[in-house]
This record gives sequence, structure tokens and C-alpha cells, in this order.
Amino acid sequence: MSDKRKVVIDCDPGIDDCFALMMCIKHLDVQGIVAVGGNTGLKYTERNARYMTELTGRPDIPVYAGYDMPMINKPVRATEVHGSGGLGTVSIEEPKKQLEKQHGVDYLVDTFMNHDDITLITLGPLTNVAQALLKEPELKKRIPEILCMGGSALAGNATSAAEFNIYVDPEAAKIVFESGIPIRMVGLNVTRQNGMTPEDVELLKNIHNPVADFAAQIMAFTAGHYGRTSLCDACAVSWLVDPAIITKSAKVHVDVETKGEFTRGMTVCDWREYMGKNPKEDIVHEKQFSQWNPVPNVEVALEFDEKRFRQVLFDTIASYGDR
Ligand code: BDR
Ligand code: CA
Repeated sequence: MSDKRKVVIDCDPGIDDCFALMMCIKHLDVQGIVAVGGNTGLKYTERNARYMTELTGRPDIPVYAGYDMPMINKPVRATEVHGSGGLGTVSIEEPKKQLEKQHGVDYLVDTFMNHDDITLITLGPLTNVAQALLKEPELKKRIPEILCMGGSALAGNATSAAEFNIYVDPEAAKIVFESGIPIRMVGLNVTRQNGMTPEDVELLKNIHNPVADFAAQIMAFTAGHYGRTSLCDACAVSWLVDPAIITKSAKVHVDVETKGEFTRGMTVCDWREYMGKNPKEDIVHEKQFSQWNPVPNVEVALEFDEKRFRQVLFDTIASYGDR
């Protein structure tokens, strides 16, 4: 029996999702992967998830398709960042690995209603998870923890206020954040501290294995266009892979804004009790007051050991070896 942490991953691969999958498949016990529409359409995200199981030598990991469309919003994609097929300019052949027939939402419901030792990782819009919670109301008592790449304690990326995964489907995010399920949130305030550059693409090319070659190709797309790219989803899963990578976090109350003219999709973090003598330092990470007593629903990651993250990332990719 494996002593690795059991996880189910809901994701929208997506360049940084692929890096997260490389890390999870190597270090965690991945029970299943559910695809959601997000960075690009579901027909690509589910295909890319299947491809990643083959590339990493784990085609035994089941892959399910969930929802393509958000609950209310028209779909918003990030194809300028991830390419139309989600993998930059890399075109892949249709994987041999087949998609499971069961709908991704039914898989989530069945899995968590029947097991209580699996962490749910979310790396895309929260549509599937919200739909699963609506379909089976008991589910909120059954999911022990969600590790979520989403939101931000500071600025957004889709808009000045909202991070992409939350912005795409704010109604879904609201259902999940209000569910009472313990959530660990790794938002842009942490993940933007990671910056991969064209030099990192060269380092990947020098590893010489199929996973590293693929990693170099997809990273070249974003690092090449923007000069610097953050592997947000890989940063998020690093909290489970090597907990020392996240060096500071705080439990606070987080609401998801669904109505604001400028703030729809924002994760509104209640830092009131943290804003002490030096509010300019923003979140001082230590409670200064107990005045408002908001009920914490999210553990928000605040600080990050980028050097250690890079080490784990490159070691992981190198460890795949020749296949
Ligand atoms: C998140 O949005 C997507 O584009 C990435 O895959 C990541 O999950 C970052 O805001
Ligand atoms: Ca993603």
C-alpha cells in the first residue's frame, strides 16, 4: 500500500497544469483526474490530461471529463497564454489512453461519498466541484480538504481584482468557498513570486528525457512571449508535495464577489484583524486585534520559498528519466 497522500485533481490543462500534473503524479497517489473547461475548451483539457498520464508513464490513472461551460458566465478562455489547444504551439497526437465513460461530476460524488482520505486539488474553474456539491448535498461533509489554485490575497490577473480560475465561474467558486469544506488557497499573491524565464527553458532542454523535452516546449511558449511566466498550478500543488515550500499562511475569512461592477470574481480576504501599526506592510501575518471575529474558512498561503520550489520542480522532471 502506498504511503503517499491520495488526491483527486480537477484541472484544465493548460501549461502550468501540466507542470502540476508532473509533480503530483511523481509524488502523490493520484486516484483520478477530472478535466474542466477553462484555459481552453474541454475537448482539449481532457485530451491533455490523458496525454500527461501517458507521458509520465501512468496511463492507469483514470481521466474523466466534467463541464465545459461555467454555471452562468459565458466561457472565458486563456488561449493567448496557453495556446488554442492548451499546450502553446505544441501539437500532440490523440492519446491511446481512453477517457472514462462516467461524467466527471459523478466520479467526484462517488469517490468522495465512498472515501474519506482523499484530498481534492483544484487547478481550474470550480464548475465541476460546485456541480457535484449541488448534485449531492452530503458531499460537503465528505471532502476532507480542498487545495485550490485560485484567487488572490492581492491583485488579480483576469481583471485587476479577479484571478482567472475564480473569474471564469464566480458562482461556482462561491458555492465551494461557502461549503464549509476546509480550503487551502494558493493565490496569485504567492504564485506570481515564481518567475520562469527562457533560461529555465534551456535548463529543461539540457535534462534530456521526454518529460523534460515536453516541459521545455510548453514553457517556451509563455516564457518566450512574456519573458517570464509563473507556474501557478505547480506552485499550488507544491504545498502538498513539499510543505516547507509554503513558508507562511494565515486562516482568514474569504468571500467570493459575484456582483461587483469592477470586482466580480474577486476573493475578498478579511484582513481586518491583521492590519496593525504598519498597514502599509499590508498583511502583517500576525493577528493584531480580535475585534471582528470573522469565521475563517480558508487557509491562505502568503509566503513561498521559490528557490526550494525550483529545486523540487527540476528534480522531479529529471527523475522521470528515459522512457
Ligand atoms: C490560473 O489560471 C490558469 O490560466 C492557470 O492554469 C492557473 O490555474 C492562474 O490564474
Ligand atoms: Ca489551471
